[in-house]
Amino acid sequence: MKIFIIGGHGTIGRKVAAHFQPHHEVVIGGRTQGDVLLDMTDSASIEQALASVGPLDAILCIAGEAKWDDFDQLSEEDFYLGLRSKLMGQVNVVRLGRKYLNSGGSITLSTGILADDPVLKTTSAAMVNGALHSFVKAVDLEVENGIRVNVVSLGLVEDAYEKYRDYFPGHNPVPMAKAVNAYVRSVEGKGRGHVIRQYE
Ligand SMILES: NC(=O)c1ccc[n+]([C@@H]2O[C@H](COP(=O)([O-])OP(=O)(O)OC[C@H]3O[C@@H](n4cnc5c(N)ncnc54)[C@H](OP(=O)(O)O)[C@@H]3O)[C@@H](O)[C@H]2O)c1
Repeated sequence: MKIFIIGGHGTIGRKVAAHFQPHHEVVIGGRTQGDVLLDMTDSASIEQALASVGPLDAILCIAGEAKWDDFDQLSEEDFYLGLRSKLMGQVNVVRLGRKYLNSGGSITLSTGILADDPVLKTTSAAMVNGALHSFVKAVDLEVENGIRVNVVSLGLVEDAYEKYRDYFPGHNPVPMAKAVNAYVRSVEGKGRGHVIRQYE
């Protein structure tokens, strides 16, 4: 398979890329490093990247940001960061990406536990994660050419645990092998329109 991983140099993305690299052709996309540079907040940049790497068998987006802060500190513009990056960035990866996929290909997006179990300072991040879960279920009803769309929703992963543990009291870190397998299920399984949750 030819697999394009947006965010393939990130904390989670690099482990997912390392899993697929031995047996597949993996192309890594990122904002500042990778085989192809793109900014997922800009649909023209997404399209340009896809046109340069396609045709593809799988697209994984393991990227996207949202502003974390107390609700009463978040401005309207702060909310737009999450809407433009994590939400519309990933919606655009599906909207544009399906044209560059071979028949039967797959698109895998990324959200997280905040959709189901938010912690303090995450009104924006939780909101976009929840929206993406609904988006994936709805787009699955309409996407053609045998293309499957799923989203992986992870808890705080082991490799990010030290950095973020204080935000997640009592949460158990998700082992990286389990995090990687959630993406493998989406790419190599036959499921579609699924929210693949891996919270422990
Ligand atoms: N870490 C966790 O425990 C965890 C748990 C659940 C969900 N998630 C979600 O999973 C995703 C990846 O998390 P992570 O911890 O691996 O993040 P990370 O280490 O910060 O890596 C993010 C990757 O995405 C790329 N990226 C960010 N903004 C981009 C943009 N506008 N255009 C193109 N590429 C962009 C980054 O590229 P550059 O480095 O070049 O900027 C980097 O390669 C995030 O959406 C995060 O919210 C994370």
